[in-house]
Amino acid sequence: AQARIGLIGLGTMGAALALNIAEKGFPIAVWNRTTAVTRAFAAGAGALAERIVPTETLADLVAAIAPPRAIILMVPAGQAVDDQLAALAPLLDADDLVIDAGNADFHDTSRRNAAGLPFRFLGMGVSGGEEGARHGPAIMGGGDVADWARVADVMTAIAARAEDGTPCAARMGDAGAGHFVKMVHNGIEYADMQMIAEVYGLLRDGMGLDAAAISRTFAAWNEGALKSYLIEISAIVTAAADPHTGRPMVDMILDRAGQKGTGRWTAIEAQHLSAPIPVIEAAVMARNVSARLDERLAGQALFGPAPQPCALAPDTLELALIAGKILCYAQGFAMIRAASERFGWTLDLPEIARVWRAGCIIRSAMLNDMAAALAADPSRNLIMAPFFADLIETAMPALRQVVSQGAAAGHALPALASGLMWFDGMRTGRGTANLIQAQRDFFGAHGFQRIDGLDDPHGPWAGTV
Ligand code: 6PG
Repeated sequence: AQARIGLIGLGTMGAALALNIAEKGFPIAVWNRTTAVTRAFAAGAGALAERIVPTETLADLVAAIAPPRAIILMVPAGQAVDDQLAALAPLLDADDLVIDAGNADFHDTSRRNAAGLPFRFLGMGVSGGEEGARHGPAIMGGGDVADWARVADVMTAIAARAEDGTPCAARMGDAGAGHFVKMVHNGIEYADMQMIAEVYGLLRDGMGLDAAAISRTFAAWNEGALKSYLIEISAIVTAAADPHTGRPMVDMILDRAGQKGTGRWTAIEAQHLSAPIPVIEAAVMARNVSARLDERLAGQALFGPAPQPCALAPDTLELALIAGKILCYAQGFAMIRAASERFGWTLDLPEIARVWRAGCIIRSAMLNDMAAALAADPSRNLIMAPFFADLIETAMPALRQVVSQGAAAGHALPALASGLMWFDGMRTGRGTANLIQAQRDFFGAHGFQRIDGLDDPHGPWAGTV
């Protein structure tokens, strides 16, 4: 019998996904550019090997799959995807389906869809790292309804399940919509991680806690409103000891963050959409600052070390993190809403929140409540939904205290602070852009609207300089 589906690219994620698919009962044909990798994969598949068809050429792969074929691509985003699509083109029929499951730039996915490929094409965001891919990722599909329907059985079978049993796999919308939603997921991932790291800094440098005590704090928070994968793993990594020195592992790791670009894409795309996502932007900025270790050391030598002792109760920090998290997600969902309008995607915000409830890196208890709040009114900013408005009322004083006390003590808190600034901007009925408009009118006669509705769009300053 022929395989139900094929997979190209047996790197960490591809191999895990292939095993997951086989385990759920679907025979799968696999191919890797390096044949030795394919052979080693099949040899290491154990009992699942009976559902795995290793192939050594692309033509063999195609021949091994039952038509109309479906083939998952798990190769590095960018040129490698285009090269693979070009290599497949002469081998596939018009109704065969290729699914790009890498972290593609959604613009590339939309372009590939529009480019008239000689076969069907889906872009699919997959989150959850290796563990997720192996045992249940969150899956965000993009492309035609009929194409998604052809593989929906496989995708829902391999996806994570939310607590209520719903599979965390869905079609988000046309073409690039799946990769777009995955990109925003990653932007939120950056922001969640950065806010946790900022609070970690306050615990470590402000309050002088050691890694073990910080771990206990995170573990306690993981029992409450902050319950989430990222808090859970923060508790785990801060508890780990370095096998070389016996010291806390985190204390031995250089404070220079890597990044592969999806957070940066989110920030850039938000600018194109005029969507304010300052918490995510701050998180990307903070990774860039972290990378400039030499400059930071020079800055410390010149201006003196930044973080000073700063006494804050752990409960206050927990509440601040709750507030920051709500603000960040509110911004992320608002960005998705803006993209939906711009690209004509009709993205389903509550559905996105539901898909993110399990399997993905940003999975958390709070996403249940977010899904409910968005379902009640998808067009309303999340901070205005009654449940979250109440939570924000409770938590905002803590965020304000943490940011102001932390700033006074020289702690860099870019993500938490930009959340607070955005929030205050969002509740300022009379802001200061009237001055910006006056300046613009002064130097460029750009005009303004008057508060009294009178139609006189220019100020009396013509010729005053
Ligand atoms: C996921 C993650 C994943 C991402 C890595 C690292 O959802 O599984 O978002 O897709 O690539 O976590 O991303 P950075 O290297 O940019 O931190």
